[in-house]
Amino acid sequence: MCLHAGFFYVKIKNCVCTKQYRKRVTVMIKAAVLGYGTVGSGIVSVIENNADVIAAHGVDMHVKYILDLRDFPGDPFEKLVVHDFDQILNDDEVKIVCEAMGGTEPAFTFSKKAMEAGKSVCTSNKELVAEKGAELMEIAKKNNVNYLFEASVGGGIPILRTLNDALTAERIESIQGILNGTTNYILTKMEKEGADFDAVLKEAQEKGYAERNPEADIEGYDACRKIAIIVSLISHKRADWEQIHTEGITKISSVDFKYAHKLGRTIKLIAACHKTEKGYAAIVSPRMIDKENPINCAQGVFNAVLVHSDMLDDSLYYGRGAGKLPTASAVVGDAVELARHLGDHFSAGWSAEEVALDPVEDSEFEYFVRCKGAFSDNEAALKAAFGSVKPVDASEAGEFGFTTSLMKEGSFMNAYNALDGKLNYIRL
Ligand code: HSE
Repeated sequence: MCLHAGFFYVKIKNCVCTKQYRKRVTVMIKAAVLGYGTVGSGIVSVIENNADVIAAHGVDMHVKYILDLRDFPGDPFEKLVVHDFDQILNDDEVKIVCEAMGGTEPAFTFSKKAMEAGKSVCTSNKELVAEKGAELMEIAKKNNVNYLFEASVGGGIPILRTLNDALTAERIESIQGILNGTTNYILTKMEKEGADFDAVLKEAQEKGYAERNPEADIEGYDACRKIAIIVSLISHKRADWEQIHTEGITKISSVDFKYAHKLGRTIKLIAACHKTEKGYAAIVSPRMIDKENPINCAQGVFNAVLVHSDMLDDSLYYGRGAGKLPTASAVVGDAVELARHLGDHFSAGWSAEEVALDPVEDSEFEYFVRCKGAFSDNEAALKAAFGSVKPVDASEAGEFGFTTSLMKEGSFMNAYNALDGKLNYIRL
């Protein structure tokens, strides 16, 4: 490090990084965008419409190519559309590739080839990052380029960069996230309007919030991939998303909300992880959370991530977790960072070694249970099966609710599966 003309210059390989440097030297960048769907077209809009803002940060960035199978007659950027990836690959002027294709192939092959050709890649593709992130990060390292994926978790919320850059002096002890906008929109509507799941899902599909095939969202797989990316990032090892216990929101009804309100709670799809003795515990499931829980600020399509770390304590990150421009903004933010680090491999990530994930049966929760009949007729049997229980009266005919104390998931499931007249359970 040297002091020169009143500024600190930190020399890392060939790159000189200071805020002053960023403002004074303009890097000229040509980018290619792979996929011209919702996020891809958003990326082009952000780069071109906010070119002046990006230039003020020292990067003169423009889109040279858009790769898509389709043509877009009448689109202001139709002349940039190409159908052959090799055209991008063989153009040395293109230094940055923004991948917004979704799915693992051909996104993986294109990202790999781009990095092998010396281009850095940024993406919003959570399926690809959760599945093949470690491999792509290794390819980036070998080729002295970078692979960034901020938009893959929490859409426009800069949560990954915060974990990587801002919270580097913190032991991250636990993270709770509302990481899926579609399910949060559905649960918020169900709560506010007393509507049932199927009706709200249909409306969300009509409005274009939910996909025509909404399985990945409503069954929790999307949130699961996102929490797997978070666990990988904080543990520096690959978290296998398929090993994370995942439950979606399809069994939640308007009656569950009545009980939640009696308890001063609401219901959210929570993706959670925490550090354990052996590794990490992670789970995605509906939870009855306290209405005062700061994460409950996320209503509708918004996302929120509550991080608990040893020095800072709780910190909350909130914003639009989905949508064209918020997601694109995160991808372009990565592209700007990539432009600042040409020829310098800096991106952090995780290795292919798998992090130990505790079996869900070993985790402890309190539970809410709904059951047919009357609490008074079942109290003794419930205590024998679940230990300490407390009734919850939502004045629903022919049924009752109760909560348990903290119990191991394995013991709870044994008792719940043997329960006559069971209707539903939700973890608190
Ligand atoms: N389907 C996702 C959601 C999109 O609803 O949150 C953003 O990853």
